[in-house]
Amino acid sequence: MDSDSKKRLAAEAAIDYLEVGSIVGVGTGSTVNHFIDALARVKGKIDGAVSSSEASTARLKGHGIPVLDLNACGELGLYVDGADEATRHLHLIKGGGGALTREKIIAAASRKFVCIADDSKLVDVLGAFPLPVEVIPMARSYVARELLQRGGQPVLREGFVTDNGNLILDVHHLEILEPAALERDLNQIVGVVTNGLFAARPADALLLGGDDGVRTIDGSSGV
Ligand code: A5P
Repeated sequence: MDSDSKKRLAAEAAIDYLEVGSIVGVGTGSTVNHFIDALARVKGKIDGAVSSSEASTARLKGHGIPVLDLNACGELGLYVDGADEATRHLHLIKGGGGALTREKIIAAASRKFVCIADDSKLVDVLGAFPLPVEVIPMARSYVARELLQRGGQPVLREGFVTDNGNLILDVHHLEILEPAALERDLNQIVGVVTNGLFAARPADALLLGGDDGVRTIDGSSGV
């Protein structure tokens, strides 16, 4: 099975987590695009969505799904998003699409975070995928020097500006053995908006699409 079909399987499985009459948080990326398309088929069951990017907003609206301001919604019951890497401990690297800050805000504001991905995203140790760091433009060089001191190799994402008007440094060559500690440390660098590690607030369930269907890893998986 190709990776896009695996992403679609995982995305469609996330529909089972929807609560009738709720507002659902929606992430960003090719896997989430499948989720949005599946959501459109059951849109009568939900009151609307909170979106993590302009791209997801456009797709949701294209399907006639109301998009609401997070500030008007209180705590969300469910957030569904993809990942660039995930461990069996439900720690993630996100931000390949550059939407990491809004994604992290919605994840923080949600009771349950269901991560959807094809099975190639499961890794033992995070860091082979370059870690995205969103940076205020005037701090770019300073933050890059700080990242170098921490053993990373930051590369500016050329020609890319986030939905918040900032830049992304993709940090190569990190072997991330303590994701929560690194997440905290990088967020202390002045000029960093946030980084793509989701460890302080990990996923609650990971749905992995594969050749044999969808495998679920959650807190009760005992791994
Ligand atoms: C967007 O900024 C990312 O966090 C995505 O969730 C991540 O890059 C996964 O994208 P795909 O679903 O396209 O693999």
